[in-house]
Amino acid sequence: MRKFLIDTDTASDDAVAMCMALRHPDIDVVGFTVVAGNVPLAQAVQNALYTVELCGENTPVYVGHGRPMLRDLGTAQDVHGEDGMGDIGLPLSGRTPAEGWAPEVIVDTIRQNPGEITLVAIGPLTNLAAAILWAPDIAEKVERVVIMGGTGEHGPGNVSPTAEFNFWVDPEAVSVVLRSGMPLEFVGWDISIESAVVTNERQEQLRALGELGSFSVDIQATLQGFAWEETRLAGPDFPDPIAMAHAIDPAPATMEHLGVDIAVGVEPMRGTMIVDHYGFAQLPKNVNVVTHYPEDAFFAMLTDLLR
Ligand code: RIB
Ligand code: CA
Repeated sequence: MRKFLIDTDTASDDAVAMCMALRHPDIDVVGFTVVAGNVPLAQAVQNALYTVELCGENTPVYVGHGRPMLRDLGTAQDVHGEDGMGDIGLPLSGRTPAEGWAPEVIVDTIRQNPGEITLVAIGPLTNLAAAILWAPDIAEKVERVVIMGGTGEHGPGNVSPTAEFNFWVDPEAVSVVLRSGMPLEFVGWDISIESAVVTNERQEQLRALGELGSFSVDIQATLQGFAWEETRLAGPDFPDPIAMAHAIDPAPATMEHLGVDIAVGVEPMRGTMIVDHYGFAQLPKNVNVVTHYPEDAFFAMLTDLLR
């Protein structure tokens, strides 16, 4: 069994990624740590608890940071819905998280399982940065750190012309992670729009799988509108699920080891991922950036896990 610790700002695509990990026979999800991002923290915690219960598990869900390190929180409720889960009336309240503070859970879990933890971050990196600042030693004890974030080699932004949401929310946290020495693998929004767009045909295939398949489509109600009106994609895209697919099975991926930095500061640069392709800035090669993940491999895994 491989041990996954998943940090999430649970909304409609995070929930699908969570189901994938919970349903995989070879993966032991040791816990979910929650961070504010798509929705305010309390809602993200309830969404995570609901999703764990829907999968028939009792995996602990831990509360984390309710806002970025140095900025006010900017949510994506216009994209995922007020409740983050498509505003379709799910009972997303009244559940109780586990005792424990997310950054401390990240540190303790990695220290107690040296070389065994795959940390999957599918929201803003505030919790991860707090853990690193408090316990830098975790960088050499964690086995893999797979992050949904950024725009890959040269993809477009989804919250500004050049910034992807998770990196835009807390760019200072991204800067801490980039300088931590952790074994970083980035799956950017470019990979999602290339290989994880859930067209009507794919939606019908998912619905045919049953309860979890239907859930994974129904909660995209708001994201569907954002896709049609803003990004002009042929359907809602699944950035967190394809990042989770890479965490589960990196074999189909193409990756490049690149020097990466992040633009902090104000618009229009805030949260822009800087890739030093030609070494002009002499940035250390600190990230394995996924440059391709095959669409068929992703949807085959998604279908198997939601069946
Ligand atoms: O840019 C996509 C990312 O932002 C995903 O993690 C999505 O859940 C939102 O958090
Ligand atoms: Ca997310």
